[in-house]
Amino acid sequence: MEKILVTGANGQLGSELLILSTKYSNYEWVFADRTQITLDDLEVLEKQLNDIRPEIILNCGAYTAVDKAESEKEIAFTVNYSAVELIAKYAFKNNVKLIHISTDYVFDGSSSIALSEEAQTNPINIYGASKRAGEVACLNENPNSIIIRTSWVYSKFGNNFVKTMQRLMKEKESINVVNDQIGSPTYAADLAQAMLDIIKSPNWIPGIYNYSNEGEISWYEFALSIKELGGYSCNVGGIPSASYPTPAKRPEFSLLDKKKIKIIYNLDVPDYKESLRKMFV
Ligand SMILES: NC(=O)c1ccc[n+]([C@@H]2O[C@H](COP(=O)([O-])OP(=O)(O)OC[C@H]3O[C@@H](n4cnc5c(N)ncnc54)[C@H](OP(=O)(O)O)[C@@H]3O)[C@@H](O)[C@H]2O)c1
Repeated sequence: MEKILVTGANGQLGSELLILSTKYSNYEWVFADRTQITLDDLEVLEKQLNDIRPEIILNCGAYTAVDKAESEKEIAFTVNYSAVELIAKYAFKNNVKLIHISTDYVFDGSSSIALSEEAQTNPINIYGASKRAGEVACLNENPNSIIIRTSWVYSKFGNNFVKTMQRLMKEKESINVVNDQIGSPTYAADLAQAMLDIIKSPNWIPGIYNYSNEGEISWYEFALSIKELGGYSCNVGGIPSASYPTPAKRPEFSLLDKKKIKIIYNLDVPDYKESLRKMFV
């Protein structure tokens, strides 16, 4: 039985994988929280990996606080770059299948067409820079890695835009949401399933893959969909990012082109609204 290690097990993606794992009892699953896989202490991390001895690693752990990263560069890079480098080295040495997760924030937002895996990266915030450094290290240390770039992740677990909107739309009469950042949301359960589909596939084709739900929307349009599906009466207005300053800059356009993963792994990628509905049942 192959042993799968899931890092960041208490995060959104880790939690969805835990649910999904019940359907895949042909694997031995190890769900590691930050005490079992510690991504900010490399010595400890190496020892933990040597103790667990996984055959597959799904690296879902990450420093994901995009705004806080601007003032916590060191820890963001330790978790998103140095730990990834170490995990990739371990994977290479021990012939472990590694799926690492990255982000649309490796891009600067200047494109106006969906971004392919080969599109030029140019992160515009610390989080994005740390994740890009992680991608490069991951493939340098273990060319057999699979990296999945995803965007705007939400689920019933953890903190995310959908849950914030659900709360605010219940509490407030009106809210404003930025309408000049374009991309596509990702329901973490769909991404978790895509990861399982890759593991189950007889083909292990290393490299970078994009995965998000289908659709090309702004956060404002996403909020309107949440309002519609939740039946909220709250007024939702669109505002430019300039009216909602944040410590970290965000790309204006980060829509991911999913052709590669659909063709190579024969995946069906649900439309964002179809998946969003699942947050309301
Ligand atoms: N969320 C998004 O919108 C988004 C967008 C694009 C890409 N991604 C990428 O998708 C992946 C999964 O994201 P997610 O949304 O599931 O993130 P998440 O909910 O923030 O989960 C991240 C997990 O990493 C763990 N972690 C953080 N620092 C750690 C450390 N020093 N040692 C060990 N574990 C640590 C956290 O542990 P605690 O629970 O103990 O804090 C948490 O369980 C990440 O690679 C992320 O960069 C996310």
